[in-house]
Amino acid sequence: MQSIEKADKIIELAKRRGFFWPSYEIYGGTSGFVTFGPLGAVLKRRIEDKFREFYTRPLGILEIESSVILPSKVFEASGHIDHFKEPLVECTKCKRKFRADHLLQEQAKMSDTETEKLNLEELKKEIANHKVRCPDCGGALGEPRYFMTMFATTIGPYSDAVGYGRPEAAQSIFVEFRRLWELARERLPFGVVQIGHALRNEISPRQGPIRLREFTIMDVEYFFDPEDPNCVQLKDVENETLQLVRAETKMKGEKTHTTVTVREALQKGFIKAEWQAYFMAMAKRFLRELGVPDEKQRFMEKLEWERAHYSTQSFDQEILLERWGWTEVSGHAYRTDYDLKKHMEASGVDMRVFKEGRRFIPHVVEPSFGSDRLVYVAVELAYRAKEDRVLLSLPRELAPVHLRVYPLVGKDGLPEKAMQLCQDLAK
Ligand code: GLY
Repeated sequence: MQSIEKADKIIELAKRRGFFWPSYEIYGGTSGFVTFGPLGAVLKRRIEDKFREFYTRPLGILEIESSVILPSKVFEASGHIDHFKEPLVECTKCKRKFRADHLLQEQAKMSDTETEKLNLEELKKEIANHKVRCPDCGGALGEPRYFMTMFATTIGPYSDAVGYGRPEAAQSIFVEFRRLWELARERLPFGVVQIGHALRNEISPRQGPIRLREFTIMDVEYFFDPEDPNCVQLKDVENETLQLVRAETKMKGEKTHTTVTVREALQKGFIKAEWQAYFMAMAKRFLRELGVPDEKQRFMEKLEWERAHYSTQSFDQEILLERWGWTEVSGHAYRTDYDLKKHMEASGVDMRVFKEGRRFIPHVVEPSFGSDRLVYVAVELAYRAKEDRVLLSLPRELAPVHLRVYPLVGKDGLPEKAMQLCQDLAK
């Protein structure tokens, strides 16, 4: 079966069986929002629970739940106001707006590595050179400009009390660091996780459940002493192999991967922080638990200009999907002391910790997953066509339905018996 045809069948199945579908369909839909139906909502919850059990519990990582709207001060300090933006172009004829870099990738066949590097002037030049046009009406495109992709709002009735929908759950962990440090009994290393909704006002999301404007993020921030950076859990994963596409390889315009064990990746300096290597290996195992075979997984190192402003080394965990090809399912960023330092400077609150006569700001590595995307991944990986039937072979613990009772006929007291059996089983 052709990949696209199969992907269409999966999306169709997801709608029909109640996994997920585009939201607000009765009003024509708004791209970037999905509704999880009865099966999808349970599957999503099971994936998040699996994440807790598999990924965060073994390290005793603390979980918090904070607000989705944060005052602008937080994002001024974190650098998101300056950096969280994408290049936009508008069609001069039909007025539709698009990501300038995505149009270059689609129409000029440039790679994301090439387009991410371009500033507005360079984008404009490339659009002209490659005669890129509006994909909808063929009209000429206007001047590229930046669009801030955080949703802005006002808090209460005061127009100057600006707030933003959080684009990541991580910032609350940094802002609440003082209390969390005390709750972790003032010992390093320690981790905090937040699983909750995040908002990104994507310019033109066109990848169904893969790119959403509102989604569930699972951000883990793991703090450690930069002078004692050893990962105490390393022995559990040191022989795990990782398929790494290194920045060095990407610079040559290639995307071939190198297969190394975690231990080798650290010895050769491919991954800078031990804790980051640990979480990458665990991410591979977590995806394996969701049904993704090892050969469909790899880690793509980000080049300097592709990395988020706070990161000193980043890898995207990618898996091979039918329609979208290699697709990011988690990001692994070494954020160093960047965020705590910025909040310390902006708030005046001391974010340093005290250990053996030293005062310092801890370093942090961050694995970050989107659980909505993982629902799609689990469904695609479980999809099997058998003659004219479709089966979903989900891992047992993820399956939204474990057992159902149906009376074969609606007479002879069978419906009542079935109901009784259901109630007994539920107990
Ligand atoms: N906190 C992860 C991210 O912003 O991608």
